[in-house]
Amino acid sequence: MTAPIRIAVTGAGGQIGYALIFRIASGGLFGPSQPVSLRLLEITPALPSLKGTLMELEDCAFPLLADVQATDQATTAFEGADWVILVGGLPRKEGMTRADLIRANGPIFTGQGKAINDAAGPNVRVLTVANPCNTNCLIAKSHAPNIPADRWFAMTRLDQNRAAAQLAEKAGVPVSEVTNVTIWGNHSDTQYPDYKNAKIGGAPATTVITDPTWFTEQYIPGVAKRGSAVIKARGASSAASAANAALDSVRSLSTPSKGDDWFSTGVVSDGSYGIPAGLIYSFPMISSDGGRWSIVPGLTIDDEARGRLDASAKELQAEREAVKDLLGPAS
Ligand code: NAI
Repeated sequence: MTAPIRIAVTGAGGQIGYALIFRIASGGLFGPSQPVSLRLLEITPALPSLKGTLMELEDCAFPLLADVQATDQATTAFEGADWVILVGGLPRKEGMTRADLIRANGPIFTGQGKAINDAAGPNVRVLTVANPCNTNCLIAKSHAPNIPADRWFAMTRLDQNRAAAQLAEKAGVPVSEVTNVTIWGNHSDTQYPDYKNAKIGGAPATTVITDPTWFTEQYIPGVAKRGSAVIKARGASSAASAANAALDSVRSLSTPSKGDDWFSTGVVSDGSYGIPAGLIYSFPMISSDGGRWSIVPGLTIDDEARGRLDASAKELQAEREAVKDLLGPAS
């Protein structure tokens, strides 16, 4: 029998966790012949209700779910993990500023970064979903000097999926026609959903949607503020779509990219496109065999795009400054 892939999910008892773990257990992440082993981390008061979720997992009788364990100990959760999906934290509530969220969630990632460093498997990869995900990823990574820098990811895939959906709707085509969508920068309002390099039906998006003001006045703010719009409508942060984007992120990072399409994830900047090295910044990326990935080089960045890329980098530098007391030895 194929050895199970071990996936640790933090915040497993929350909204995204509930939408995520059943899909992982059913084979939605690594396909129909790959067993998975789940490790679920929660804070102690959430363990009793997580027990109910474990009962439901059992009642699904998923053939691919080799085993599952819930715990409030980070090192137990991360022991031998191949993938860690960091979802646990406070979600942004209506009226909460980004600065509030940074200071509320940042400290969680010092301890979890150390625990990943000490306990995870030799090939571990870490996807940070909990917001502010780029900066939480930076904090966790800084406490894990033994984990190579190319194993750390912050989730901007939900923004990419939202961007693709909006382009498809405007063009009146199925979303599968939309490719080459890049989210540059931070998972925040300063992100730049790049429409100038995106394609619809293989043609530049700007030749299919010919109204330039739609891109700047509706598309860019519409993608960046979609999370707030969902909070307003639902009274809670995006959950099923966020879980779906986490699956998409891990799949894109685990399987070689096809054709000339790419995907977006926050990674440690190597200085590409003039972005300061070391920031966790979202770039266009492709994957190759063995989980290796690279930033797509040579995309055209005009003056307007340059300004947007730099503004998001500046915001990430300010976030890094705001948590500098939380950064560890690998920063
Ligand atoms: P939720 O409040 O329903 O669940 C969060 C869970 O994390 C709770 O069950 C809580 O007990 C747990 N938790 C808190 N501290 C923890 C710790 N130290 N260790 C382990 N678990 C801990 O929130 P929801 O809706 O599931 O969102 C989770 C995070 O994902 C939030 O930070 C939210 O802002 C973020 N998010 C990110 C998105 C992205 O695109 N990157 C999109 C949507 C949400």
